[in-house]
Amino acid sequence: MVTTADSTSVLNPGRPVKLLVLGGGYSGRRLASQAARLGIPGVLSHRQPATAPPPPPGWRRIGFDSACGLQPDPDALSGVTHLISTIAPDREGRDPVLHQLGDLLQALPLQWLGYLSTTGVYGDTGGAWVDEHSPCQARPGRSANRLACEQAWLATGLPVQVFRLPGIYGPGRTPFAALRSGSSRLLHRPSQVFCRIHVDDIGGALLHCLALPDQQRPALVNVSDDLPCPASEVLGYAAHLLNCKLPPLQRYDDASSELSPMARSFWSECRRVRNDRLTRQLGYRLRYPTYREGLRASLAEEDGTALPLEGQPAAEGSGSAT
Ligand SMILES: NC(=O)c1ccc[n+]([C@@H]2O[C@H](COP(=O)([O-])OP(=O)(O)OC[C@H]3O[C@@H](n4cnc5c(N)ncnc54)[C@H](OP(=O)(O)O)[C@@H]3O)[C@@H](O)[C@H]2O)c1
Repeated sequence: MVTTADSTSVLNPGRPVKLLVLGGGYSGRRLASQAARLGIPGVLSHRQPATAPPPPPGWRRIGFDSACGLQPDPDALSGVTHLISTIAPDREGRDPVLHQLGDLLQALPLQWLGYLSTTGVYGDTGGAWVDEHSPCQARPGRSANRLACEQAWLATGLPVQVFRLPGIYGPGRTPFAALRSGSSRLLHRPSQVFCRIHVDDIGGALLHCLALPDQQRPALVNVSDDLPCPASEVLGYAAHLLNCKLPPLQRYDDASSELSPMARSFWSECRRVRNDRLTRQLGYRLRYPTYREGLRASLAEEDGTALPLEGQPAAEGSGSAT
């Protein structure tokens, strides 16, 4: 596994590694920090690099914005061997990276390419389990666009692995701030569950796969934790950690008209995502197998009581509750 202090031995000894992460948002930035701690140098893109946070040690910040045609500096990309794209489809449903940088990618000496997708491509299964062999029943719109982008990546002929993610949480994306401010909602719908993944298990899983031999890298990998469960259960545990009261329980059907269209679309699908390929076949050990370990660690980091890892500030990222 690459989750050891010295990754150089597993990353193809003698072959230099330079990682390009397109999209230094929540997951991209955490991932770059994890790679930097393993001694992997790299380049991280932002739409507004001048105002983006400083890159991790050994990393460089570059500009890339498909919407206004801002192209990455070719010098910065020189020697890139591995690439991760965290960028979602654009408004037209196209993949911004393939649309703008497709030719450039073909010219790089890429040994591996990871694409962050979503488990939304499986669609609604009424709570049934899905794995990477399950048919995709992506709904028209965002999920269908995402599936089309996955297929476009896989059709490039590049050494692509697609990583399907459920709801991402971690420091800065937890229910704690909303619980503390009294703005959280305790919604419940019978039989509804959600899957989730801690942000550092995204980085951990990708860096694990990056270090695997080429022939052991399946094209599709679900990166989800071990415990699909109701949102109310997660909020209950978060309130327990804060030792604070929960808001009153609301039935989803009574509250749904007050939710955003995005929130309603999440609640309109229910599935359980298997991670056996990642954890059993590929041998990745989840750092946060359930929301319980993940929320405890996230709270410690948000409150500054976690031991900071070398090269990483005590708290990173921002965002809303999971
Ligand atoms: N959030 C979730 O719960 C969740 C669940 C499943 C899958 N996903 C997917 O997983 C991926 C990572 O999620 P995340 O929450 O870490 O995303 P995020 O924080 O929103 O970061 C997305 C990154 O993409 C960049 N970006 C967006 N549009 C761009 C464009 N047109 N040209 C160039 N760069 C562009 C952003 O640039 P700036 O840094 O300039 O903003 C940002 O760095 C995304 O594809 C997301 O859709 C997310």
